[in-house]
Amino acid sequence: MTAAIPTHGGNLRWAAAIAQCAPDEILDFSASINPLGPPQSVLDALRNAIESQQALTAYPDPSYRRLREVIAQHHNIDPDWIFPGNGAAELFTWIARDCSDLATVYLPVPAFADYERALKALNIPITTIPLSLEPDNFDLPWARSPQPHSALLLNNPHNPTGRLWSADAIRGQLAETAEALDLVAIDEAFIDFLPPDQQQSLIDQVAEYPSLVIVRSLTKFYSIPGLRLGYAIAHPDRLKRWQQWRDPWCVNALAEVAGIAALGDRDFARQTWQWLPTARGQLQDGISKLPGMTVYPGAANYLLVKSAMAAEIQQTLLMGDRIAIRNCSTFPELGDNYFRIAVRTLSENQRLIHALQ
Ligand SMILES: Cc1ncc(COP(=O)(O)O)c(C=O)c1O
Repeated sequence: MTAAIPTHGGNLRWAAAIAQCAPDEILDFSASINPLGPPQSVLDALRNAIESQQALTAYPDPSYRRLREVIAQHHNIDPDWIFPGNGAAELFTWIARDCSDLATVYLPVPAFADYERALKALNIPITTIPLSLEPDNFDLPWARSPQPHSALLLNNPHNPTGRLWSADAIRGQLAETAEALDLVAIDEAFIDFLPPDQQQSLIDQVAEYPSLVIVRSLTKFYSIPGLRLGYAIAHPDRLKRWQQWRDPWCVNALAEVAGIAALGDRDFARQTWQWLPTARGQLQDGISKLPGMTVYPGAANYLLVKSAMAAEIQQTLLMGDRIAIRNCSTFPELGDNYFRIAVRTLSENQRLIHALQ
């Protein structure tokens, strides 16, 4: 019997059991991880840290001062506004905890499953805002007349549709609803994949709105999901509260070393910005030519595809080609009519297009 479809992409054990091969023989399009990484600078920094044993034999600095300084410099803000997390995923727990006395949390759906995990763990009422699933509809999903003392959690660029809403549109809604929304969290886990002049980040608004929390991840862009590293940018009072709630040393010392090296590697970032538009265009063109498949115009390093029988396609690709894609049936709003694929190298993308044919 096949185990239940996982709620996150990148579950290679599950995929390998179906494909009847070793996990490292799977070509993984199911998790949206940068195929150019991890950067050599990160591997070198990790090797040095292990060889000198410095990251193994000592506890991490509980205040993560050096890492916070590097992140702060990267965004040109004060280190007191930075909170490193054990992946972005940990940070949703503290966002949820901050929502525990609020009337409701508005959540545009479909949504990354971890938001619901964090909110449900604390029995927080969720009010969903259905996104239009028309491929060319870019309306911003927002609570237009929010209940007093409520919150909203937006993901930009959005997983799984790949939509990118403009910072101007978000800023406008933020100002209009500031009185009612005690907390607005914007998950920008995939925003690094856009070059700086195209990013629609709200980081420059955190000083203006104490209600605003920005969540970022290093795991996707720098290909280190196994190490776990993300951060929040928010008002220092909020972050001091979170620090009192969490376990000590949540971010391990190797992740800290990797993060510092990664953020210093501007060449790797430039290479990624060069690779992505061409590789994504190739996938988009190749798949949209296949009968019965509609590709959403995604801004990040993955594409949502509308297609009947996504579960069968997933199984066939695994068993016949050892290729994993993300069947979107675990997003309740999408059902069995969608799958999501990561953008990979040109030759790997070609393998997927060929297999889908
Ligand atoms: C939208 C979104 N946010 C956050 C995360 C979690 O990122 P991390 O690996 O940093 O916990 C994911 C992971 O897939 C995601 O899709």
